[in-house]
Amino acid sequence: MSDEVELHPAVAGAQPYMRAETQGENSAPEDAPLFDDGAGRERLEKVLSRYPTRRAALLPLLNYAQERNGWVSRPAMKEIAGELDLTPAYVHSVATFYTMYNQRPVGKYLIQVCTNISCDLCGGEEVLERFLEETGTRPGETSEDGLYTVMEVECLGACGFATVVQVNDEYYEDVTPERVPEILDELD
Ligand code: FES
Repeated sequence: MSDEVELHPAVAGAQPYMRAETQGENSAPEDAPLFDDGAGRERLEKVLSRYPTRRAALLPLLNYAQERNGWVSRPAMKEIAGELDLTPAYVHSVATFYTMYNQRPVGKYLIQVCTNISCDLCGGEEVLERFLEETGTRPGETSEDGLYTVMEVECLGACGFATVVQVNDEYYEDVTPERVPEILDELD
């Protein structure tokens, strides 16, 4: 666990990701080029072919960076800017506007716990606390083994199934504190 300053969960939730000491094993080095290899180049060409202008491909390419590395680094933003004839500052402004783009390395499993109104009424805070306890982390930190980053987030859009937890791209519904160990076991 890192020695980052502990933040109140509400504040931590508003600051996408605190710096992790260990990156998830799906993360690439910060300076690994996105589009130098065949897969990256192929994705770039495919995305560009779908849009009338190069700048319109910005969000799909940010998605690709996160899909590949688990987060969007400054070098990745710079590379995307170069491909799209945009300034790095412009790309940075877009990437930091959307909270779904991770600004820091995260664990292999990014666990997002909703504590908005419906989930809060159904024990969202307790679910969050249990995830933090089981992973030995604080909000936004990555566990020492690089496996888990637990975040408190706003509404995940599945309020009828509170408490809702998103792990990477998967949704878990009706989550209770008691189910947390079982969910973590499934991930390993
Ligand atoms: Fe939790 Fe909407 S309040 S999903």
